[in-house]
Amino acid sequence: MKSKRRDFLKVTGLAGLGLAGGNLLKGSGPEPCYENKPELNVLSKQLEKSHVQRFNMSGFAAPKLDIVRVGIIGLGNRGPNHMLRLSRIEGVKIKAICELRPERAAEVKKMLDGTDHNPEVYTGDPEAWKKLCEREDLDLVIITTPWEQHATQAVYAMNHGKHAATEVVAASTVEECWQIVETSERTRKHCMMMSNYHYNFFQLLTLNMARKGFFGDVVHGECAYIDNKMKNNFSKTMYWDMWWLKMYANYKGNIYPVHGLGPVSSIMNINRGDKFDFLVSVECNDFQMQQRAKELAATDDFYKQFADKEYRGNINTSIIRTTNGRTIMLQHDATSPTPHTVIHGIYGTKGSALEYPLPPRLSKGDGWVSPEEYKTIAEEYTPEIAKRNLGNDILLSWRLIDCLRNGFPLDQDVYDAASWSSILPLSFWSAKNHSNPIDIPDFTAGSYKVNKPNMDINLERTGNTGIKLEKTDKLVS
Ligand SMILES: NC(=O)c1ccc[n+]([C@@H]2O[C@H](COP(=O)([O-])OP(=O)(O)OC[C@H]3O[C@@H](n4cnc5c(N)ncnc54)[C@H](O)[C@@H]3O)[C@@H](O)[C@H]2O)c1
Repeated sequence: MKSKRRDFLKVTGLAGLGLAGGNLLKGSGPEPCYENKPELNVLSKQLEKSHVQRFNMSGFAAPKLDIVRVGIIGLGNRGPNHMLRLSRIEGVKIKAICELRPERAAEVKKMLDGTDHNPEVYTGDPEAWKKLCEREDLDLVIITTPWEQHATQAVYAMNHGKHAATEVVAASTVEECWQIVETSERTRKHCMMMSNYHYNFFQLLTLNMARKGFFGDVVHGECAYIDNKMKNNFSKTMYWDMWWLKMYANYKGNIYPVHGLGPVSSIMNINRGDKFDFLVSVECNDFQMQQRAKELAATDDFYKQFADKEYRGNINTSIIRTTNGRTIMLQHDATSPTPHTVIHGIYGTKGSALEYPLPPRLSKGDGWVSPEEYKTIAEEYTPEIAKRNLGNDILLSWRLIDCLRNGFPLDQDVYDAASWSSILPLSFWSAKNHSNPIDIPDFTAGSYKVNKPNMDINLERTGNTGIKLEKTDKLVS
């Protein structure tokens, strides 16, 4: 991690932009400029102006791969799930896995006993993942470490000739967003953020409906990831090194934007006809986390390190306006005791859709349709991919491999990864600066005007890769 800043300056020549004095080193929390200094809006503009698109990665199809040779970094909760799903997909060879903790690495390697996969294990060193990326015999590196590490690892993987697929978010600073864009364009390697909520049934259904004109012009979207993670975040064993609790203590703003925002962005053709223009972000105070930390610290010294932190507020609400004049309301809350809520609301000139609270509903302009009519409309508009009746995670892994094997553009590209991830630092800045508006960079450098939608949800040109099915496939994480 330690050479990140030097690497970045070398790659983009940002030293000339007055960044030399800034702290771009990461690992223990956000950069000072995201907290309360007004410079981020200026810095972000400078970065945007200095970028010259070398190659348009939108619609980019890499050469077909019959066998996709995979390496995976980070084997906590999420990494092994990806690994086990990939192990069941035709044409995948898991060649290498990397995990900081040796005992966890051994445990996860054992999960592949009895399969055709026998990966080499890299462990015991926080930079062992570099050795994995340097191997000659890998095509794809899957990154499932905590998100402050994703961009560094994705850039390193691409610079060593691999496609990179990261968990959400792909980058946690505006500089890192540009860094993944610049590297992907220069190396012509995919950098995909694995947005699994794109593959939920209602999200796929409404994308197909939007494409077929059911909603008319989509004018507004609502989205949110709301899930009470208090127990997980304060658990000593749930996440490596209490990293999620540290994120809630170090950041403000929407630190988990992708589950809601990704699918709504695809419906609005963001980066493919439209783009984000600016956002404003407002956040309530923290009403629970510091109190919980203090309560725990009263009887357990371990929690004293967390007792005086100024936590991110319970609910962050950000509003994005797009260049074509649409709006998106985006929320995140992981603290309040609210039931799991992934809002997906689409509002158009002819119709609307809303999921959460359940059941999902549709309107043609005159109230929500009856459950019977919902069923008829859903049957008419269900895209081919959703008819496979699998869970969102297995569809995500399958699409990624199937596109690589068919030499087809991936469902999400580096511009999606950068623009959706940029909401994290930009909403932080706005929330800390009296909800002032801040521009969202155009990571496509103007090519959004000509880029075309490419998610092949009706499987017209892809979909021939096999999967070994299991009972759990219908479970959605
Ligand atoms: N898309 C989804 O639905 C979803 C769900 C859960 C988590 N996630 C994302 O997945 C990522 C991982 O989350 P998690 O719940 O698995 O966290 P986790 O703490 O369980 O796992 C992270 C793992 O990375 C390892 N690690 C840390 N630094 C490392 C390094 N330098 N080299 C090698 N290994 C290292 C840790 O030891 C740990 O095992 C996060 O970015 C999170 O946002 C996404």
